[in-house]
Amino acid sequence: MTRKDIPARGGNAVEVRGLVKHFGETKALDGVDLDVREGTVLGVLGPNGAGKTTLVRCLSTLIRPDAGTARVAGYDVVRQPRQLRRVIGLTGQYASVDEKLSGRENLYMIGRLLDLSRKDARRRADEMLERFSLTEAAKRPAMNYSGGMRRRLDLAASMIGRPSVLYLDEPTTGLDPRTRNEVWEEVQRMVGEGTTVLLTTQYMEEAEQLAHELTVVDRGRVIAGGRVDELKAKVGGRTLQVRPADPADLHRLAAEVTRAGLDGIAGATADATEGVVNVPIVSDEQLTAVVGLLGERGFALAGISTHLPSLDEVFLAVTGQKTSAPSEAQDTRTDEFQEVAA
Ligand SMILES: Nc1ncnc2c1ncn2[C@@H]1O[C@H](COP(=O)(O)OP(=O)(O)O)[C@@H](O)[C@H]1O
Ligand SMILES: [Mg+2]
Repeated sequence: MTRKDIPARGGNAVEVRGLVKHFGETKALDGVDLDVREGTVLGVLGPNGAGKTTLVRCLSTLIRPDAGTARVAGYDVVRQPRQLRRVIGLTGQYASVDEKLSGRENLYMIGRLLDLSRKDARRRADEMLERFSLTEAAKRPAMNYSGGMRRRLDLAASMIGRPSVLYLDEPTTGLDPRTRNEVWEEVQRMVGEGTTVLLTTQYMEEAEQLAHELTVVDRGRVIAGGRVDELKAKVGGRTLQVRPADPADLHRLAAEVTRAGLDGIAGATADATEGVVNVPIVSDEQLTAVVGLLGERGFALAGISTHLPSLDEVFLAVTGQKTSAPSEAQDTRTDEFQEVAA
């Protein structure tokens, strides 16, 4: 390996500046900037049609951007596509394995496409089957795999070439919660081993579970970014949640907090279903003031907690739009497969 293959420690494995991609009138990417620090997971969060897949395709050299620059592991997507392809792995939104081939054959084929010798391709396929718990199913055609096995085979396929940067395009869309958890565990393991990941997702929970940092995209533009907790904090204050020991106190407690008119606190609301009173706060002083007041008034409490806004609320606040649950609708548009010149 030459030194060029190893990005500077702690540097950015992915650097995107002003990336633009239009499809006719559609501005799929409208000037995107983002960085993925080496060894970390960047979550790219956005609703359907935000431009996530277009971004991943540009960064994998499958389509050529109209403007802007993107470097992955130091290689330029337009000028050094061959070198770049050698350091990336890709798991697409829609499974890309050959249905008729067995799991082992699929992985072997990919190894051969990556220029491994027959022997190395076989060995690497077996390693990956073992690693993704597919050894028993290795000889069965992929069409007989369950959804979770398919996703694991996809991940295994993307790891055959030992990529230093892995793109996961909505890796768990459409999966049941158990299978989704399996995929998350695998991703966490890969990150633990040093792989840098760019993950697109429509799931708040997924971003929260896996991503170190987040970039929120909407209609081809980055609309917010930062660490997950920073982003949540930016969207506003916290909610102080107070649980009275006696549920009968619920409404009286809420009324007393509201009536006290503590500095900057607009009011409190009782949530009878949860058995808690919610008090929006923006400072620690307000928290102390509310707790102090409840002590003075002699309320017995069973619990106190504070909550940052959920990522759904973050999204609503920054886009003015609710994130829709991922739709099951199939994409019918045609792939352009516009190969980037080497
Ligand atoms: N090959 C294509 N031809 C025409 N329009 C496309 C093509 N690929 C994507 N688009 C359009 O670009 C926008 C972004 O799409 P996409 O990147 O797939 O979003 P996401 O992956 O976030 O759902 C959408 O409006 C989509 O219809
Ligand atoms: Mg997509």
